[in-house]
Amino acid sequence: MQALDTQTTIAVIGAGAMGSGIAQVAAQAGHRVYLHDQRDGAATAGRDGIAKQLQRRVDKGKMEQQAVDAIVSRIHPVNALSEVADSRMVIEAIIEDLEIKHSLLTDLEELCSKDTILATNTSSISVTALGAKLRHPERLVGMHFFNPAPLMALVEVVKGLATDNAIAEIVHATAANWGKKPVFATSTPGFIVNRVARPFYAESLRLLQEGAADPATLDAIIREAGNFRMGPFELTDLIGHDVNYAVTNSVFKAYYQDARFLPSLIQKELVEAGRLGRKSGQGFYSYTDGSERPAPDTEPARQSDDTTLIVEGDLGPASALINRFRDAGLEIVERDGPGQIRFGDAVLALTDGRMATERAQAEGTPDLTLFDLAFDFGKATRLALCFSDQASEKARHDAVALLQMTNIAVSAVKDRPGLVVMRTVATLANEAADAELHGVATKEDIDLAMKAGLNYPEGPLSWSDRLGNGRVLQVLTNIQNSYGEDRYRPALLLRKNHHAGKGFYK
Ligand code: NAI
Repeated sequence: MQALDTQTTIAVIGAGAMGSGIAQVAAQAGHRVYLHDQRDGAATAGRDGIAKQLQRRVDKGKMEQQAVDAIVSRIHPVNALSEVADSRMVIEAIIEDLEIKHSLLTDLEELCSKDTILATNTSSISVTALGAKLRHPERLVGMHFFNPAPLMALVEVVKGLATDNAIAEIVHATAANWGKKPVFATSTPGFIVNRVARPFYAESLRLLQEGAADPATLDAIIREAGNFRMGPFELTDLIGHDVNYAVTNSVFKAYYQDARFLPSLIQKELVEAGRLGRKSGQGFYSYTDGSERPAPDTEPARQSDDTTLIVEGDLGPASALINRFRDAGLEIVERDGPGQIRFGDAVLALTDGRMATERAQAEGTPDLTLFDLAFDFGKATRLALCFSDQASEKARHDAVALLQMTNIAVSAVKDRPGLVVMRTVATLANEAADAELHGVATKEDIDLAMKAGLNYPEGPLSWSDRLGNGRVLQVLTNIQNSYGEDRYRPALLLRKNHHAGKGFYK
């Protein structure tokens, strides 16, 4: 389907953070843009804000003055809503309120021609519900940008029950033409990103509540082993706990209190205390002048005289560690076994979702240390591990010394099911698998959305495939057994793929 011609006029209603950003994106693509806000002077202030932002790019030598002048001259603040009547597409980015959006959309339907596309930037209201009061709901489509709109690549093109596919296709093609990465989603709570991302926050919040480690340590593990741009605590401090907690609550309610989306009491406390994160000067971390971020817990340097390491069986995704051990000068002996490493008194294995204490008892290896998942075991600079309660001091010492020989910083966390990165990736993949099963979006669009919208290092479904057939299912099954909670029930597609001997993509 053809994108809207850049000769057509776009209107943006609401000149706040999102509306101004969207107006900038459309004007940069070459459209003439009407910008309207019901607050006197807000549309002009919105345009002036865009001009100021772009001017900074000129000052840094990143843009030509001429280009900036051309973009700004294409943005026309208008005082009366009726002035947007001849637009080809109107994108509303006003206050997140169903009644107020209804009233605006019905006014627009009266004012504009029948061919005008109506788009909503809502982040949490059903597009189906927003269309319900329209005479022609087929022309309403969600066009969900991320903040800040000029910088964030993702646009979720959201189809309500009545949305005309052809119109959704035009909006998709137009977003692509504007330099964005558009994905299709059906109008379901949280669409793709705000739904699939919930476990990223929820599992670390829960690990914190269970005393597994402190926020700085969990953030460092997620960043340095998981390759995520930011850890969940620093990220929610940036987003604002009021905002993040409200999204979790809205998704939780919308899915009829599904335990998968259970909000966190720790985050509720922060909101109630007014510790909203960066914007209030205090969240998980302090942002007042002179305050320093606490360092992650890292094991002190340990030595070992052992020079031989035994690899028993296939280490799966952790196999890249073997080369690092070899590079560290260790002699490697490989033999059959369940997929574990023996070094000195230590037995080390990648987590399978069981607690170390439980697995040590079941497998008769009391000196067991479990290590966490890394995005790339060949390059990870930090790794989390946990010891079984039964493990001797010498076994703990040897396990830490071994990883330190490869220049990996070791964070020892308390023995909880699935450690940190594995638990995060498994629950993200679980949510993504259900989103695919329920027709929210295609697997490709789900993975793309998580990368383009949140800078994840890899889409959860492709990551699940990379871990090997059945691994995420096994991890979730074991975590679910440990807690006895419905929250960790494995998605149907994980089970089905496992039995079919395939992944999501292959
Ligand atoms: P904002 O509060 O910065 O801006 C909203 C603007 O709409 C205000 O300037 C207000 O005066 C104006 N407005 C309110 N009612 C109006 C009406 N009836 N007619 C004309 N103008 C009206 O809000 P923000 O953050 O820009 O959000 C706008 C929309 O975008 C909401 O639907 C929100 O859920 C959605 N959104 C917000 C994101 C964010 O991170 N802030 C991300 C993605 C979507």
